[in-house]
Amino acid sequence: EELVPIPEPRGLPVLGVALDINPEVPITTFLNWANQYGEIMRLKIVGRDIVSVNSIALVHEMCDEKRFEKNVSGPLMQVRNGVHDGLFTAINGEPNWGIAHRVLMPAFGPMSIQGMFDEMHEIASQLSLKWARHGPTKPIMVTDDFTRLALDTLALCSMNFRFNSYYHDDMHPFIDAMGDFLVESDSRARRPPYTSFFHRAADRKYEEDIAILRKTAQDVLNSRKGKPTERRDLLSAMMDGVDPKTGAKLTDDSIIDNLITFLIAGHETTSGLLSFAFYQLIRHPEAYRRAQQEVDDVVGTGPITVEHIKKVPYISAILRETLRLNPTIPIIGMQAKNDDVLGGKYAVKKGQSILLLLAKAHLDPAVYGDDANEFVPERMLDENFERRSREHPDCWKPFGNGMRGCIGRPFAWQEAVLVMMMLLQNFNFMPDDANYNLHYKQTLTLKPKDFYMRAVLRGGIS
Ligand code: HEM
Repeated sequence: EELVPIPEPRGLPVLGVALDINPEVPITTFLNWANQYGEIMRLKIVGRDIVSVNSIALVHEMCDEKRFEKNVSGPLMQVRNGVHDGLFTAINGEPNWGIAHRVLMPAFGPMSIQGMFDEMHEIASQLSLKWARHGPTKPIMVTDDFTRLALDTLALCSMNFRFNSYYHDDMHPFIDAMGDFLVESDSRARRPPYTSFFHRAADRKYEEDIAILRKTAQDVLNSRKGKPTERRDLLSAMMDGVDPKTGAKLTDDSIIDNLITFLIAGHETTSGLLSFAFYQLIRHPEAYRRAQQEVDDVVGTGPITVEHIKKVPYISAILRETLRLNPTIPIIGMQAKNDDVLGGKYAVKKGQSILLLLAKAHLDPAVYGDDANEFVPERMLDENFERRSREHPDCWKPFGNGMRGCIGRPFAWQEAVLVMMMLLQNFNFMPDDANYNLHYKQTLTLKPKDFYMRAVLRGGIS
């Protein structure tokens, strides 16, 4: 096949298409371009040259780890100011990534995650209690409460630390510091170069926030060192673990980098997933009824146990379908390891930055058919999901790919299934505003913006 140029929107000299990008929700602009240009496009943004792949066929090629690798740039590069070469932000080849990855893999495996069930259950119960107390008329700020849930759960399960977000109106200082740190990392990445002089106050605050994050994690580590425990969690795995390949142990700095990393990588993603799942359920009463019926059939009114997690295929299907339509990490940054050709006709140079635009590729009609834009959980039931994954490898990538894919996936899944079950078991939900239209709030991840619902107790709390 002949090589053809990659189509691109026309932009200004120097600035390129920068001014065309919606500054609040860049993803909407990317999606518009993808609708216009098709399976692949080139974007020149203030001197940067970025290729975006928008179809499953090309995403599948990009998942070949021999040819392509994760690219740490933009906001991720800024997040390194706080957590350095922690797992999420490590650049390929950095030795601390390998050590932490090998030491932590077993700690994130199914058995360890099942061991965290009771603590996940405890935090989920606190959320249920809070919503029960609200009564049926109070609008619930869905994403905020799921963010508290995800953070409290991660801190408790990973290092036995309690933020107790549901007992205070004010968030723990760590939580504010982390929120502000992430927002500032994001805006630093979007700021034009050579303007740092104008941001001294923001820079000082940024350093202070990083200090709060690291001091909190350091205190947790020190107190564990002071009184050894039988407890097996992610912190103990990192303190005791020896890398089978190099014989190395994690340094204190690397432990702190990764403790903070789990909270960063795990809280917005999980909270976004749960928020979008309820958004979708409320819009799809049939799916809602089927999900609630499944919980009633499998659990009844008694307590949810770890054995129930694998017995609710329809709830799993809902979560998968939600992540297909609303991937909370909508774009993954990669780069070419060598000069290469995509799709047999698009040349890319070694080091070329290439984005996987999951939010578009997941809607590919070649894989998902004419109703690709619709929420249809049935297509994600195990049998259909597995058959499609065989026919179209890499057609569903919300957890990333290969070695650099999500290490927290079993953790997130167990938590999300549990929370869906518990909430459907205890409440009937309705939108606060029946005319709510989905808007995105985009930070490092996507969430539904200003989405409120109301919760009516079905009976007692289980
Ligand atoms: C990596 C998605 C929950 C920890 C990733 C990546 C994605 C992802 C797409 C790859 C990023 C890239 O290639 O740049 C999600 C989603 C979640 C979720 C959608 C929830 C629904 C979690 C949780 C944790 C976690 C709960 C921690 C307990 C990590 C870490 C990495 C990662 C440490 C980096 C792995 C590496 O490069 O070695 N996640 N994640 N994630 N995730 Fe998750």
